[in-house]
Amino acid sequence: MKILIIGSGGREHAITWAVRNTSANEVEVYCAPGNAGIAHDATLVQIAAEATRELISFAQSERIDLTFVGPEAPLAAGIVDAFESEGVPIVGPTAAAARLEGSKVFAKDFMARHGIPTALYRTADSPSQALEFLRSGEFGLVDQPVVIKADGLAAGKGVVVASNRSEAETAIGNLMINKIAGSNAADRIVIEEALSGVEASVLLFTDGRDYVLMPPARDHKRIGEGDVGPNTGGMGSITDSSILDHETTQEVVRSIIEPTLAGTQREGFAFRGVLFLGLMLTANGPKLLEYNVRFGDPETQAILIRLKTDLLSIFQAIRQQTLAQLRVEWAPGASACVVAANRGYPGAYEKGAVIRGLDQVTGVEVFHAGTSRSADGSLIATGGRVLGITATAEHLKSALALCYDALDRIEWEGMQYRRDIGRRMAAGSPP
Ligand code: AMP
Ligand code: GLY
Repeated sequence: MKILIIGSGGREHAITWAVRNTSANEVEVYCAPGNAGIAHDATLVQIAAEATRELISFAQSERIDLTFVGPEAPLAAGIVDAFESEGVPIVGPTAAAARLEGSKVFAKDFMARHGIPTALYRTADSPSQALEFLRSGEFGLVDQPVVIKADGLAAGKGVVVASNRSEAETAIGNLMINKIAGSNAADRIVIEEALSGVEASVLLFTDGRDYVLMPPARDHKRIGEGDVGPNTGGMGSITDSSILDHETTQEVVRSIIEPTLAGTQREGFAFRGVLFLGLMLTANGPKLLEYNVRFGDPETQAILIRLKTDLLSIFQAIRQQTLAQLRVEWAPGASACVVAANRGYPGAYEKGAVIRGLDQVTGVEVFHAGTSRSADGSLIATGGRVLGITATAEHLKSALALCYDALDRIEWEGMQYRRDIGRRMAAGSPP
C-alpha cells in the first residue's frame, strides 16, 4: 500500500505518524513537501501542496493507492476534483464541499438555510454597506463587541473580534480597503454578533452518509499565557472528555452535525473527509462559529496520538462509503500538544537556530512544523511554529506533565512556548 500525504506542518506530521503507527500492514508513506521531522516517517517529495498537476503525475507514476490532503487551500482550489477526474484515488471534500470553509458567506448562508445555531450575521460586499449595518445598531451599541470576517481563506488573518464599533470600523477598512487578509479574501465580509462562552473543536470523519466523532479538543489560539495577545495558528491543544459532556455532545449531533450532513446531501455536495466544527458553548447552547473542511492544527496532533484504529482503513472507508461498518477506537484518557515557536511569532520571527535536546526526551511524540536540516545535518528552527510536543495519559494533568518535562530538555536560541496550555481544565482533573 502506498499513501501520499500533502502538506508540511505539524498536522501533516501527526497524520503521517498515525498512518505508520496504526497500520497493521506494510505501508509506504510519501509526503509532499513535508519537513525535517516528517522525513523520519515518510519519503519526502519535493512538490508544493498547491502544485496539483505535478502531484497527479507523481501519484500516477508512483502508483500511489491513496492521497490525503492536510491543508485547506488545495481543497478549496479543487485538488480532489482534479485527482478524481484523472481517476487517481484521493480522499477529501470536493471544491463544492470545501466552500464550507473557503467562503464564510457561503458557510453562514448554509447554516441559515439548515437551521444550524450560529451567531446572527449580515454579509456586505462594500465598505459602505458594512458600515451601514454596523451603524444600524442591530449588532449592539457602539461600545459592544462585534466580529468582522473576511469571506475567503486568509490563513488566520481574516477574523477580527472587535471590542467596540470604532475597532470594527477600523477592521472593515483594513480588510476591505487595505486588503490585509489578501487581495480578494475580503471583497465580501461577514459582520457577526460576538458570542461569549468557551470554545471547543469537534472533528469528525464522514463519508457523506455516516460519521465518526473524534475526541473533543480545544485549541489555544493566542500567543500569550492567560489567552492574551494576537491570534496565532495555535499554541497548543488538548483533548479531554470534559471539554464536551455527553448531553452537549448529543445537542451538537442533533442541532449541528445531522443538519449539516443532511444539508450537504440536499444541496448535492455530500461531504467526504474530515469535517471540523469550531464551536462556542454559550449559555444558550452550542453554536457553530465555523466549519473547517480538514483536520485542525494543532488539534490533530492531540487527537491522533489517541487513535487506535488503522487510519488508512478509515480513509479507505470514507472513500468507499463504508464508515458505518468500521469501529474506530481511541486510547482512553486525555492528551495535550504544546507548541514551541520562534521568538517574534506570530509577527516577524527569528529563524535558523539549531535545535538541541530532542534525543533527551521520552514519553512524548515530537511533531515537527517549521524545521529543516542545515548543510551539516543539524536540525534548525525555520518556521514560526516549530515543534508540537504531544503526549497522551489517563488524565490531562499527566499528559501535560509529560509535555512540559520534554520541553525542559529541548532548547534553541529564540524558543518560546506557553506554560499554561490546558491549565484551567487540568485544575479540575485528578493529578
Ligand atoms: P473562525 O475562523 O470563524 O473560527 O474565527 C476565529 C476565531 O475568532 C474563533 O476561534 C473565535 O475565537 C473567534 N470568533 C469567531 N467568531 C466569533 C463570534 N461570533 N463571537 C466570538 N468570537 C468569535
Ligand atoms: N486549530 C484551528 C485550525 O486549524 O484552523
